[in-house]
Amino acid sequence: MANLRSPKVLVLYAFQLFVLVQIQVSCYQFKVGDLDAWGIPTSANPQVYSFWSKYHTFQIGDSLLFLYPPSQDSVIQVTEQNYISCNLTAPLLYMKNGNSLFNITTHGVFYFTSGIPGHCEKKQKLRISVLSGNGSAYSPSYGPSALPDSAAPSYPTVFGTMPLPPSSSPANRFSILLSAVIGAGISAVINAIV
Ligand SMILES: *[C@@H]1O[C@H](CO)[C@@H](O)[C@H](O)[C@H]1NC(C)=O
Ligand SMILES: *[C@@H]1O[C@H](CO)[C@@H](O)[C@H](O)[C@H]1NC(C)=O
Ligand SMILES: *[C@@H]1O[C@H](CO)[C@@H](O)[C@H](O)[C@H]1NC(C)=O
Repeated sequence: MANLRSPKVLVLYAFQLFVLVQIQVSCYQFKVGDLDAWGIPTSANPQVYSFWSKYHTFQIGDSLLFLYPPSQDSVIQVTEQNYISCNLTAPLLYMKNGNSLFNITTHGVFYFTSGIPGHCEKKQKLRISVLSGNGSAYSPSYGPSALPDSAAPSYPTVFGTMPLPPSSSPANRFSILLSAVIGAGISAVINAIV
């Protein structure tokens, strides 16, 4: 314990790192499927969208980027019911400019498919679950109380109860863990000084 650097420098360093990590975390843009083209999955990888969403963690502030040739495809957000049945009528959101950004502003479960008839049936569909701050997926879709009314989207009511950054969530993003660790480190250092 002889030659510790000045605590001030340590604090500054930790704080800078903390800010850096926060910026990195605060809004992450996901390219859907890690693909350059949102489209019908290839026969080599028919489950591409379900695997992709399963292995990523989405949070409020993140966005989903759908890239595709606008002449050939589009993106619609649909209700759970219409997602399951590939019903393209009355989408919640319709995007067709080839470079569509869906901004996640609330937690819940979001369902997307293509606006082109036939594509949904060929598994061009994406379901993402955005965790709430307390770490539980808001999604009732595995539970008994799934969408009570198929006509209504289930999530607009959650505005206003927006939780703090999910340091308690089981998010598997390393950076979040890192920021929590750094945050704790800063507190420890500050406590040590005062
Ligand atoms: C498709 O969805 C619309 C709007 O949600 C609904 O009115 C219609 O009955 C559905 N069609 C079928 C065949 O389920
Ligand atoms: C998401 O945010 C971007 C940039 O702020 C905006 O251009 C885009 O239209 C938004 N997407 C939707 C679906 O509102
Ligand atoms: C977590 O938040 C959700 C949505 O706000 C709520 O329904 C659920 O009861 C909360 N769970 C706990 C353990 O607080």
